[in-house]
Amino acid sequence: MQHKVTVVGAGNVGATTAQRIAERELADVVMVDVAADLAAGKALDMMEAAPILGFNARITGGGGYAPTAGSDICVVTAGLARKPGMSRDDLLAKNTEILKEVVERLVEHSPETILIIVTNPLDAMCEVARRVSGFPRERVFGMAGVLDSARMRYFIATELNVSVEDVDAFVLGGHGDTMVPLPRYATVNGIPLPQLLSAAKIEAINDRTRNGGAEIVNYYKQGSAYYAPSAAVLDMVAAILHDKKKILPCAVLLQGEYGYDDLFVGVPAKLGRGGMEEVIQLSLTTEEKAALAKSAEAVKGLVQSLKV
Ligand SMILES: NC(=O)c1ccc[n+]([C@@H]2O[C@H](COP(=O)([O-])OP(=O)(O)OC[C@H]3O[C@@H](n4cnc5c(N)ncnc54)[C@H](O)[C@@H]3O)[C@@H](O)[C@H]2O)c1
Repeated sequence: MQHKVTVVGAGNVGATTAQRIAERELADVVMVDVAADLAAGKALDMMEAAPILGFNARITGGGGYAPTAGSDICVVTAGLARKPGMSRDDLLAKNTEILKEVVERLVEHSPETILIIVTNPLDAMCEVARRVSGFPRERVFGMAGVLDSARMRYFIATELNVSVEDVDAFVLGGHGDTMVPLPRYATVNGIPLPQLLSAAKIEAINDRTRNGGAEIVNYYKQGSAYYAPSAAVLDMVAAILHDKKKILPCAVLLQGEYGYDDLFVGVPAKLGRGGMEEVIQLSLTTEEKAALAKSAEAVKGLVQSLKV
């Protein structure tokens, strides 16, 4: 394979991401986990599917970082997942420690890599990764918006009984209970959503989107969502490796855009070979701005309590 992607954390999200990347032959994948045998075993198990599925990418796994050297992209999923009743923010202290260690090791071996952060609380973990790596914002950003938007798209498609392929939607803001679904920018094959659904139905979809993560946690009891999250990471990885210039909502360090400075917030961004190549500015209504401000405040509160 021409490309190499490292995935740290061979748990639910990490392993499924590795599998998706390899099965599409996007890159060779190196999985790293403190549970070294888990990473090695899952890598071997996936490779034993290669003759059946017919993919030629190589997946390896273990506990060391030497094999990650020269990675084009490093996806960080290492950390604890939410348990029922636990907020993403409860994870802050523990996952800060983990992120710090993981990012230091990754950057040591791949100083030019692009970091995609997945670990929660997402926006704060992006800030930890940025501080520890010293990378410019083009090379350190987070996955959340693609997942949240995909959930919203699915709920819209189900409500209207139309193909998911026809539905586009955007969710802005932090990856938490204050995320901001933007139905005004949602379309069904170009038709604005407000022309197709009542305000009450749209608000119900917004609510379900905001609680989409918790809905899955409540089903699983142990652990959180991973099929849709890993698909969302795949979308970002493919956009970067194939230099697609695709506009995807990502957690990006804002530098003046949307009126915020030095804060990770979920906004539409153009992804290509240079990583996060451009922040796309949308014009927002007064209410949308207020919702985004509330979401940004929540992220700010977390970032201020970071000990890195
Ligand atoms: N951003 C999003 O939209 C989104 C979506 C889903 C999950 N998540 C987050 O992603 C993270 C992973 O979720 P999961 O379901 O895969 O959890 P998981 O428990 O299945 O996997 C986490 C893995 O990280 C490993 N790990 C822990 N400390 C490590 C370290 N120091 N170095 C290397 N590996 C280490 C664990 O051994 C485990 O295998 C969680 O924080 C979760 O909240 C984020």
